[in-house]
Amino acid sequence: MNLDLSNALLSVPTGPYQISDVSSGQAVSFSLIVPTYNESKNVQQIVQILTQLLDHALPNDYELIVVDDNSPDRTWEIAQQLIPNYPHLRVMRRQTERGLSTAVIRGWQVARGDILGVIDGDLQHPPEVLLKLLQAVRNGADLAVASRHVEGGGTSDWGFVRRLLSRGAQLIGLIILPNVVGRVSDPMSGYFLVRRSAIAQCLLNPLGYKILLEVIGRGDVERIAEVGYVFQERQEGESKVTWKQYVEYLAHLVKLRSRGRISRLNERFQLGRFLRFGLVGLSGFVVDMLAFYLLRTSLNLGIARSTILSAEIAVVNNFCWNDLWTFGDVAQHQPKKRQRLKRFLKFNTICLMGIILQALLVSGMHDVLHLSEFIAKPLAIAIVTFWNFWINLKLSWRVTDVR
Ligand code: GDD
Ligand code: MN
Repeated sequence: MNLDLSNALLSVPTGPYQISDVSSGQAVSFSLIVPTYNESKNVQQIVQILTQLLDHALPNDYELIVVDDNSPDRTWEIAQQLIPNYPHLRVMRRQTERGLSTAVIRGWQVARGDILGVIDGDLQHPPEVLLKLLQAVRNGADLAVASRHVEGGGTSDWGFVRRLLSRGAQLIGLIILPNVVGRVSDPMSGYFLVRRSAIAQCLLNPLGYKILLEVIGRGDVERIAEVGYVFQERQEGESKVTWKQYVEYLAHLVKLRSRGRISRLNERFQLGRFLRFGLVGLSGFVVDMLAFYLLRTSLNLGIARSTILSAEIAVVNNFCWNDLWTFGDVAQHQPKKRQRLKRFLKFNTICLMGIILQALLVSGMHDVLHLSEFIAKPLAIAIVTFWNFWINLKLSWRVTDVR
């Protein structure tokens, strides 16, 4: 029984958003991604128009890849049914990921073209501009962007608010990320072509709608060309842009601005883990004070005994949270009771030493530097927190990790 795979859907890549430097399978010159979400009324028309255009411009040397995010209106199914009539059409249906930028990258990951492109699936990006974009890449550009803000560009009758939002977003981008956003006149454009070599092997980490920022921010893009186009009115369906995309845009700018810096810092200083350790320490402070208050008022214990007991209760509290949350990824490999007890004893000893260190610091700062004890105490807590974190990281949780 021969299985008819002629209109099989593409398998969806998983893992990091990284494009290989060689195209998979039989290479073609150009791969164009058409990201779709609820474009059932547009998808046939866009495929037909693009096919006519590219059959003429690049006969048998291009492919169209519709990447649909499991649209409720089953756009992916309509596209799939087109495959037998459009031999250069491939279709991907994503069911576990959602988002315009990641859809484009997953499409580029299965693409076979030396030039990779993206165009909206709602006919708002005039397909004929593709020919000028292709020409620009052939003339040596690494990236060719369809821009609304150069000669021949514009937006059909966009309302004042949408224009303001788009320009406002661009202005914020110029402030936060001038060396990326400033390289093109229309950084919001979702219509462009890029050489595979300019983004191959780059670890992309996009957010939201603005895939172009990711390409310029993380790619190896030297020469950029721009081609003017007029953003058309949508005939069918509606825009999926909500306030969420604007928030994601800002977060994306910040992420690109610190690209690599935060992850390098995190790697070196385990920033994320330290923040969790600090939060646990804060909870310990609250438990300590509460226990101290209860021991003094309801059990009427002396100050010294209340201090030591409440501190120990806080240490137990902190150990439990640190073992579960802060260092949970390490502790889970050493689940045995004996190992947990070993970690607790180490943690306790280090905290005890931390309490002694804190007492020395407070009295030193108070008696030698003549600082008020209410300034010396929080300073000492901060210093001891670093001490506790690093020593515990290196001793309590790390050692138990070694078999
Ligand atoms: N796969 C997938 N997943 N496609 C999506 C998603 C998604 O989550 N969200 C939107 N799309 C598709 C839509 O189906 C459409 O084909 C295209 O991406 C653009 O989405 P719209 O919602 O129509 O965006 P827009 O018209 O408001 O803005 C577009 O044009 C602007 C100017 O170029 C977007 O491309 C913007 O990024 C761009 O700035
Ligand atoms: Mn649109």
